[in-house]
Order: sequence, then structure tokens, then C-alpha cells
Amino acid sequence: MTNELNAQWRLAATPKGGLPVAEDFLWVTEDLPEPAQNQMLTQTVYLSLDPYQWGRRRSGVELPGEVCHGRTVSRVVSSRIAGFAEGDYVFNTNGWQQYGLSGEGVGIFGYMHPRKLDPTAAPISTAIGVLGMLGLTAYSGLMVQCQPQAGETVVVSAASGGVGQVAVQLARLAGCRVVGIAGAQHKVAYLEALGVDSVVSHLDPQFPAKLKAACPDGCDVYFENVGGKVFEAVLPLLNKKARITLCGVVSQYGNTDGQDPRTVWQAIGQPFFERQQVTVHDLFVGNFVDQYQEVFLQEMAGYVRSGEVQYKEDLRQGLKSAPQAFYDMLTGDNFGKTLLAVGDDPTR
Ligand SMILES: NC(=O)c1ccc[n+]([C@@H]2O[C@H](COP(=O)([O-])OP(=O)(O)OC[C@H]3O[C@@H](n4cnc5c(N)ncnc54)[C@H](OP(=O)(O)O)[C@@H]3O)[C@@H](O)[C@H]2O)c1
Repeated sequence: MTNELNAQWRLAATPKGGLPVAEDFLWVTEDLPEPAQNQMLTQTVYLSLDPYQWGRRRSGVELPGEVCHGRTVSRVVSSRIAGFAEGDYVFNTNGWQQYGLSGEGVGIFGYMHPRKLDPTAAPISTAIGVLGMLGLTAYSGLMVQCQPQAGETVVVSAASGGVGQVAVQLARLAGCRVVGIAGAQHKVAYLEALGVDSVVSHLDPQFPAKLKAACPDGCDVYFENVGGKVFEAVLPLLNKKARITLCGVVSQYGNTDGQDPRTVWQAIGQPFFERQQVTVHDLFVGNFVDQYQEVFLQEMAGYVRSGEVQYKEDLRQGLKSAPQAFYDMLTGDNFGKTLLAVGDDPTR
């Protein structure tokens, strides 16, 4: 057992709206907890920073005073759970803290229960990226919900981000013509290097016209990560019987009008959906875990091993920088899947 203290970020108060500010978070240091029977203490190695965490905070699901929620890759410090031993690496949900308890009575969802990782099979950080929830999100939204056919045009927004970069590569592997939308020029260049057929920057003043030019045959499948102006540019390009997976609308997560961004999104799109008989699939990755986690992991691990799917991580350093890294991710000042190195990773 270690004599260290446990540093944490806790939610200071339920945010009123807008984007995160420093005052939303409270830095707390406390003694390490002792694992009870069927629990273990783990040290966070990597913390995943995801847009949905802001939704939990804004909607009051995460309560003031609670340790900020987040999925993690951790190393077991001491275990009272059969099958987990000191030194094992696990996927779990420590949240924004250096140490956390896992096991019985900890964590609310089935998929948050700890899962042992094999550092020789894949870098352990991928368990919160391409081989984790993000990869499964891309897989479920694209392959399960929209079922793209070879030759179709697939448009993906936030295409260089954690989910988007996996979605564009899966669409390529399905034989589709892939159009990626991203912001900064280095993201555009990255996607072009990945083999995305056409990449358009939403920061370009001619963005709607350039997107139209990039989709000469219209759009058959739209993987929606962004909403707002990006969505409005995609709408007129939708073909008859196009499919959309409504994965997220990150451009609206800092709204201050109190409206539900998905409801607003649906209202804007409705006339186009009706005219073009578009099918909209609401995506919540948690609904796909039971049925698709295993098949996804097998398929995606193969793609990653063979290099058919590559991944880019935006690795930030140190728990202290979590609020800033979180803000950067929400506003596009990230490049790839945003994660935080909280502890050392000797396997890297
Ligand atoms: N439905 C589910 O179950 C589920 C699960 C996981 C994630 N998601 C959703 O998936 C989406 C992507 O999440 P992620 O974790 O992979 O994040 P990410 O794409 O790595 O990071 C967010 C990206 O959004 C883009 N962005 C932010 N503000 C924007 C704006 N105003 N206009 C245009 N683009 C903007 C930025 O890319 P650019 O700089 O290129 O603009 C930024 O890099 C989010 O909407 C998230 O809520 C949904």
C-alpha cells in the first residue's frame, strides 16, 4: 500500500450554461480509500476526456461535490476481487482522480465494471480510444445503424476527433467515398494522409459551397458529431433515403439558451428529412455494448494490428490540466482523441 494522498477534481456547482470555466471545478486532496471485500484500489494511468461529461455536469446528473466522472485505464494497487491482482491493468471508471475504488457497489453501469487489459495485445490507452467506447460508437453508428454500401458517399463531421477518425476509416474499409469535415488545416492534412477522399474545413468562408463540390453525388450517410452550421451545410446534400446517425452535436454543448441541442437539431432537419425520406438513428453507445462489444473488439483489434485503422491521440499531461484539456477538446483545440496521462505508463 502506498502512503500517497489522492488528488481529485470535484464538481464545484452545477454549471448554468455555456462552456466550462475554471470555477466549475474544485481541486481536493484526501486520504486513499481502503478497498472493501470485492473491491480494489487502482491508480489512474490515463483519463478519457469526452464531450458527454459536460452533458452530465450541465444536466445535474453529476452532483456538486462529486468526483468528476470519467473513464480510465488504471493499474491495480491492491485487490480484494478474485481475478484481479496488484500490477494488473484495467479499464475502469476512476473519474478525474489519481486513485479510485472499483468493484462491488462502485459504478452504476454494467459497462463501467472493470475489465482486465493485456498490454501485449494493444497499447493500454486504446481501451479508452479506438478499442473502447469511442471505437464502439463509430462502429455502432456507422456499421450497425447506417450500414453503408460500397460506392455510397459518407460524410463525417469532427472527422479527425476520437469518434470521427474511426468512422472515416470504417467507411473507407466499407468501400465508400468518404468526405471528412474538420477545422484547422493540420486536421485536414491528417485526414487526407489517412486516405479520406475529400476533406473540407468548416472554417473556410466558402464551406457550404466546398462541401457541395466535395459531394457531387450527394450524401447517402451522414455521421453527425457537430450540429449547428456544419449540419445546415449537409442538409441540402442529403439524397433520397439517406441515413443519419445522430451521434452528437458538440458545437451546441456550450449553448446558453437552455434548449436541448438534439431537439433543436431535429426541428431544423425535419423538413429535409421528410422531403428526402431520411432515416435518423439516435445513437447512444451504451445500447450497443451487450450485443456488439465482442464482435467490435475482435474486428477493430484486427484492423488496428494490421494498420488498416490508425488512431491519433492527443495526450495531455497531469491531472492538474484536466479542466483546460477538457475545454480545449470541447472547442476544437485538440487533435485526435483527447486523453490525460495521470500516472506513469511503463508499458508505453
Ligand atoms: N452518442 C454516443 O453514444 C456518443 C458517444 C461518444 C461520443 N459522442 C459524440 O461524438 C462526438 C465526438 O466526440 P469525441 O469524443 O470524438 O470528440 P472529438 O471529436 O475528439 O472532439 C470534439 C471535436 O468537435 C469539433 N468541434 C467543436 N466545436 C465545434 C464547432 N463549433 N464547429 C465544428 N466543429 C466543432 C472539433 O473538431 P474540429 O476542430 O475539426 O472542428 C473538436 O475537435 C461528440 O458530439 C460526442 O458528444 C456520442
